[in-house]
Amino acid sequence: MNNGVLTLDGVSMVSLAKSVGTPVMVYSQSKIEKQLSEFKRHLKSAKFEAQVLYAGKAFSCPAMVELVKNAECGLDTVSGGEIDIAYRAGFPMDEVFFHGNNKTPTEIYEALEKGVGTFVIDTETELERLIEISDITGKKTQAVIRINPHISAHTHKYDVTADRDSKFGISIDKTETVAAMVKKINASANITFKGFHAHIGSQIFDKNAFVAEIDAMMEYIAEMETKGVYTSWLDLGGGFAATYTEADSPIPISEVCETIISSVEQSMEKLKISVEKIFIEPGRSIVAEAGITLYTVGGTKNTYSKKYVFIDGGMSDNIRPALYQAKYNCDIANRMEEAKTERVTVAGKCCESGDILAEDVMLPETKAGDILVMYTTGAYGYSMASNYNRIGRPPVIFVKDGNARCVIRRETYEDMSALECNEQIEI
Ligand code: LLP
Repeated sequence: MNNGVLTLDGVSMVSLAKSVGTPVMVYSQSKIEKQLSEFKRHLKSAKFEAQVLYAGKAFSCPAMVELVKNAECGLDTVSGGEIDIAYRAGFPMDEVFFHGNNKTPTEIYEALEKGVGTFVIDTETELERLIEISDITGKKTQAVIRINPHISAHTHKYDVTADRDSKFGISIDKTETVAAMVKKINASANITFKGFHAHIGSQIFDKNAFVAEIDAMMEYIAEMETKGVYTSWLDLGGGFAATYTEADSPIPISEVCETIISSVEQSMEKLKISVEKIFIEPGRSIVAEAGITLYTVGGTKNTYSKKYVFIDGGMSDNIRPALYQAKYNCDIANRMEEAKTERVTVAGKCCESGDILAEDVMLPETKAGDILVMYTTGAYGYSMASNYNRIGRPPVIFVKDGNARCVIRRETYEDMSALECNEQIEI
């Protein structure tokens, strides 16, 4: 903060808003770098290798992928589009994992052509498709199979991925199905079986959920050995929480890494099995707190019991409050030192009553022209943004050491209209 004005990495957020306009998403590059290096530094064992894969679904663009590459982390991707970003950014493709419960034949083909290192196989059909396409192309890759360990993490129901009826992975009790899949992989010409993957959810605060996941997966690995299936790799997924408001207290990175490493080491000893390498896939915990969104207040309105503060963005750049009832903190970036005297509801400009970004938050007396900052918008904000109401997506700016660079420009009417056409379809 400087003279009551919010700064990020030495850059005045009010000056930035003036020069690029609002809404705008701003990331502290040094915070992203710090999170990546913390995970990398703490996820270490003397007994096995460990790698951190950044989950690009949280936020991805070439500049972000570049930071992941510089930190020597790998990348978790979930579509042909995310793989394309990595490929164009010159990311080492053998460090890319390709996830998804319904990868299309085109995506599988493209991923093989681009040299994606590891496929995370979600279904038997997908495996057959992958074998077929790899036979045609002659391209080699590695595979891990996604297992649903039936561990329930206490988080929003849309963020749970391992309940018994989840759409993701193969149930942990279907050991015969998986043994048959591994057999198919071993018989294939181009695919090497490496091991298993699990992911139990997102925004998880409870260490015990990860311990339970590891216990279940290590016992599974031991059981699969009795069926002749030997595991080199265990990928434990992501899900590490971030702080949005005072109500959140995530497990520190050092602690969560230490818990993961020691749980795997202990299980190895107890079950007399070994794994060569483990992986984790943090997304939110890398970028959420590094990102903020700046909006301009267009005006206010008092109803019978509320004061609304209207901003020039909303659910089109941040769907999370509407979709997950996510809570955010905010401030007035040009009057940081003023007492917060008003309880307000921050509403977006979309034609939708549910377009409320923050309910019942305290702000100084707010008026048109103020710059409202919403914190912790770095994960699943831009990546879930839409053109609802034909609103262009905001630009993304990286700031570091007093410098600002635009890494994604503002979406214009021309960008949006570039897709419109009037072409005859041959049937
Ligand atoms: N690995 C897998 C297989 C995943 O499905 C996910 C997230 C991650 C890693 C990264 O999880 P993270 O570390 O970011 O929690 N849109 C929702 C979150 C959906 C998460 C989907 N999978 C939200 O905004 O809360």
